[in-house]
Amino acid sequence: MKSDVLEELRTEVMRRRTFAIISHPDAGKTTLTEKLLLFGGAIREAGSVKARKANRHATSDWMEIEKQRGISVTSSVLQFDYKGHRVNILDTPGHQDFSEDTYRTLTAADSAVMLIDAAKGVEAQTIKLFQVCAKRGIPIFTFINKLDREGRNPFDLMEEIERVLGIRSVPMNWPIGMGRELCGVYDRMKHQVERFQGNNHDTIEVHKVDDYRDESVRSIAGDYLYEQLCQDLELLDVAGDPFDLEKVRRGELTPVFFGSAINNFGVQTFLENFLELAPAPTPRKSQNGEVEPLSPRFSGYIFKIQANMNPAHRDRIAFLRICSGRFERGMTVRHVRAGREIKLSQPQQFLAQDRDIVEKAYPGDIVGLFDPGIFRIGDSLAEKEDIVFDELPTFSPELFAKVTVKNAMKHKQYQKGIDQLTEEGTVQVFYSTSGFDETILGVVGQLQFEVFEYRMKVEYGVDIELHRMPFQFARWLVGDKIDTSKFRINSTVVRDKKDRLVALFESEYALRTAMEKNPDVTFLETAP
Ligand code: G4P
Repeated sequence: MKSDVLEELRTEVMRRRTFAIISHPDAGKTTLTEKLLLFGGAIREAGSVKARKANRHATSDWMEIEKQRGISVTSSVLQFDYKGHRVNILDTPGHQDFSEDTYRTLTAADSAVMLIDAAKGVEAQTIKLFQVCAKRGIPIFTFINKLDREGRNPFDLMEEIERVLGIRSVPMNWPIGMGRELCGVYDRMKHQVERFQGNNHDTIEVHKVDDYRDESVRSIAGDYLYEQLCQDLELLDVAGDPFDLEKVRRGELTPVFFGSAINNFGVQTFLENFLELAPAPTPRKSQNGEVEPLSPRFSGYIFKIQANMNPAHRDRIAFLRICSGRFERGMTVRHVRAGREIKLSQPQQFLAQDRDIVEKAYPGDIVGLFDPGIFRIGDSLAEKEDIVFDELPTFSPELFAKVTVKNAMKHKQYQKGIDQLTEEGTVQVFYSTSGFDETILGVVGQLQFEVFEYRMKVEYGVDIELHRMPFQFARWLVGDKIDTSKFRINSTVVRDKKDRLVALFESEYALRTAMEKNPDVTFLETAP
């Protein structure tokens, strides 16, 4: 590769930030995303992303379920530029019915933004998504939202983040009052008061000060809020963690920002700090060692496959995370698993639902590839050489159902459907070890069952019945002497698609008991 091309690669990699927003439904993810896009000029009007959320059926009528439920079954990527940076937001469904896709999408991010409702604190879905990020050790930035409402004490929230998620936090700014009393925030790094103005708190006035004890802070905040602010910040100075970029980068410390997305308060400060502190695209592990983004040869892997985005074409889109080198439209690459060359002629990038054709893309970018059925989740694509990226983890399902086919004559189509839909990652499939020929589906969210049932009928012409099973946990079993007869009480042992043993448990108690009874067996939450 010529030196000017390498220089271009370096510039493009260094300016990229690829992240996902993790939160519980209703914390304000759509609102925050929209404000970020507005800053980047990617959308012109407030309300566009919201409208997309509310009227999703208007643009994605390819799937009845979306229409009926008014939610997104799939996720896409939003891209914008801000002050020289290229920002990629991996949009994960915020609804309760999230799926394994959400988890897999997180593997394509280099950092995460954890959004928390100031009144509700750390909620269930945030915990699950956090854990997936924490396992990878990626940096996590926290935005505590809805400061304009009465929320919980900021110290309580920090304590909860540490207790529930096991990560230390460092407030980058601190609220001056809250709810009706909210006056603004104190920026601990820049030593300035950012003050809300106007009825909607949407104008920001910045006052530089030497220190929070500065008397001018008193004149802005009033005696009561000033005293409280000084008390809080003194405590933080003495007992709080100091800011440490290395710890942030290792995912051991989360910088916390307070704000209100709907009022656009604190969003710009957050964005600017985030872009400065968050990492550029990071190396990815492969069987050939770590693949550096600046390595000149193109490589990437498929982390998600989305079917039927266009009802007229019944096409599938495979989402590729670029890991190294430069991607160019029309380039020929090795499809490593298939052992052959393919031409990437129709790459598409997504902003909202509009499809744009991508000419060039760089590490950290996500491109959608037209997939005539040749890709599987985890597939590696590489220029010239065979790079095999580490397999994507298979996450432990939490809901299980036995499948039966209503019409036995349709068995062939049924098998084809199962094969393809499990390959796409729509559901996980397990087979009983009891001698009965039972097929069990495992999913992370209820919606995955509905999608499976619907697609089996519409795409493969097979009517199925799902019988819910009482299991809640799956653990892959690893060990030399596994005695499956020991897994009878409130549990069962099945085999996954790759013939690995998996135990399913009805309760945490059943799981713990089995672990105690089988000390020589390792119980893995994700497939080995
Ligand atoms: P989500 O994508 O995480 O599910 O959340 P979304 O942005 O849709 O926000 C959920 C609700 O919280 C919305 O209210 C939204 O307006 C509100 N919200 C977001 N940020 C803030 C904030 O900073 N302060 C306050 N007070 N509210 C906020 P909604 O009533 O469900 O919808 P809408 O009628 O306002 O559109």
